[in-house]
Amino acid sequence: MREDMVKKILKLLFDAPVSSKEFLVDREDEINSINLICSFQPFGVYGVCGETGIGKTTVLNFIEAKEGKRIYLKLTEKESKEIIIGDMLYKLTSEIMGYNDRDLSKLAEKAKEFVIEERSETDTMGVGGRVIIGGEYSKSITHSRKFNVYLAYEFLNDILELLLRKYGRVILLIDELDKERKEDVLIILDSLKSVFNKDNLVVIISLPFAIYREYARDRLRWNESGNLENILKDVFFLEPMSDEQIQEMILKRLKDYPDFFDGDALCEIARYSDGNPRDALWISQRIVLNNLDRHRITGDIAKETIKREIRKYFEDVWELTDIQEKVLNVVARYGGSRSSLVKRLEENGIKRQTAYTYINRLKENGLIIERNGKLKVSGKIYYLIID
Ligand SMILES: Nc1ncnc2c1ncn2[C@@H]1O[C@H](COP(=O)(O)OP(=O)(O)OP(=O)(O)O)[C@@H](O)[C@H]1O
Ligand SMILES: [Mg+2]
Repeated sequence: MREDMVKKILKLLFDAPVSSKEFLVDREDEINSINLICSFQPFGVYGVCGETGIGKTTVLNFIEAKEGKRIYLKLTEKESKEIIIGDMLYKLTSEIMGYNDRDLSKLAEKAKEFVIEERSETDTMGVGGRVIIGGEYSKSITHSRKFNVYLAYEFLNDILELLLRKYGRVILLIDELDKERKEDVLIILDSLKSVFNKDNLVVIISLPFAIYREYARDRLRWNESGNLENILKDVFFLEPMSDEQIQEMILKRLKDYPDFFDGDALCEIARYSDGNPRDALWISQRIVLNNLDRHRITGDIAKETIKREIRKYFEDVWELTDIQEKVLNVVARYGGSRSSLVKRLEENGIKRQTAYTYINRLKENGLIIERNGKLKVSGKIYYLIID
């Protein structure tokens, strides 16, 4: 392959959220449903859940505000509830300062100063409880100060109210909250309930996968101070893509090089990805980089490269016991319903109860996955154990 072609193909396969329709695959239903909410629901907080790399940010990119203002915030600070809320406020102020509105800018300026001052003071106090004045250490301060989260709520509240007065309706998209622990996210959302519950304010938040599971399973109590239904009006779950959709995604990106991966190679990429577009892009790039001397990637080449790559990355991570390996081999070879697999395992000399237990545990660990009611081994395991 020529160098410029390698560069171009790698760029086309680069992992970044999609924002142009040209490259978008599926997700119409989810995008339409969320857009309906944005247009018609009186207010409320809604979640978008899904495993990492499944396409949450991509979906958020296609959410529009037919009426009013669309505001997208990408959170980056983690550490604690206070810092996350401070970050939310900071990102909101940066956003609205660009609107060239005097009232909004004035309020945003005040709020921004508050966050910066709070953060730097809190941080200085955190370091050994000392404050530096005029280059010298002042007397050490024994107490440590905490970020004033109540003032942060007040600023958030005032800014949102002003935005609503100016624009009539606000669609607030908050991305990357899904990287926090489920428990922390719930505490944060609960504490923001009164700030977010405003007529004509629709808040869409990307949430950890675990929250969906909980929401879907029981819609029950989470703890004494509230339940999920109380915090979230609805949650959208982004399912893994089908093999065909993964292939479509790669083909759309490589439309100038339609023959670079042949049909079988695309099947191998999809098999590896288990419907996760990020995993598909990652392995595709690895295949390119490992085959610089080739102009076309066949199924066999893709398969051999994936096997090699997987062994390099994952062999030491999973140390499988003999019996685990036996179970995984049977599942890899046959796939199917749980009971049919247990029967096969019994034929291979594994006791019925043991077989059930092993299958369940391997499924909990993600080594066995379920798609359309059928069990199979995950893509990573598949390429680790096949010959
Ligand atoms: N519907 C889609 N059509 C085409 N490509 C997609 C789609 N969904 C996701 N992708 C691709 O998959 C990758 C991951 O998508 P994205 O960043 O949106 O996922 P995410 O769920 O927000 O991930 P994270 O958990 O890291 O925030 C990106 O490279 C994106 O281009
Ligand atoms: Mg994202």
